[in-house]
Amino acid sequence: MTKLKIKKYGDPVLRKRAEAISEINEGIKKLASDMLETMYSAPGVGLAAPQVGVSLRLCVIDVDPNKKSPVVMINPEIISGENKITAEEGCLSFPGFYGNVNRFEKIIAGYTGLNGNRQEMKAQNFLAKVVQHEIDHLDAKLFIDYLPDWKRNSIEKKIKRKKKAGDW
Ligand code: NI
Repeated sequence: MTKLKIKKYGDPVLRKRAEAISEINEGIKKLASDMLETMYSAPGVGLAAPQVGVSLRLCVIDVDPNKKSPVVMINPEIISGENKITAEEGCLSFPGFYGNVNRFEKIIAGYTGLNGNRQEMKAQNFLAKVVQHEIDHLDAKLFIDYLPDWKRNSIEKKIKRKKKAGDW
């Protein structure tokens, strides 16, 4: 496995809609395993392919503190959601920044696994939040898009300053 470099906010790949995966070949399997290693080492609980510079519809998730429940989601989608709640979240592409985002508390997601089978996942609370966040990445949507203007502007200003200082 290879640890990949995580793209930070400002990289154009994060604002590009990712393309569907048509075939699960060795390259896709390697990408998924490299992304898991990258996510664990960050450390993080979710990572989408655009965050490592690959504009494909694949994300990896593991909310288990023992890192023993990895899920690889290919061409994922939210099938249904209920009850909106607000919770704080961050993103590996925004190290050090957090904001309150309103999302579904419970969801059903559909995705293709590495074995090629289409399957469904029922998720709630923290896992539901992570799945929605990662699928957003595939649609070029970032958590700051949900924040009020003043909060998003403040984060963008701080990132600009960090970039100038070579700290981003
Ligand atoms: Ni993220």
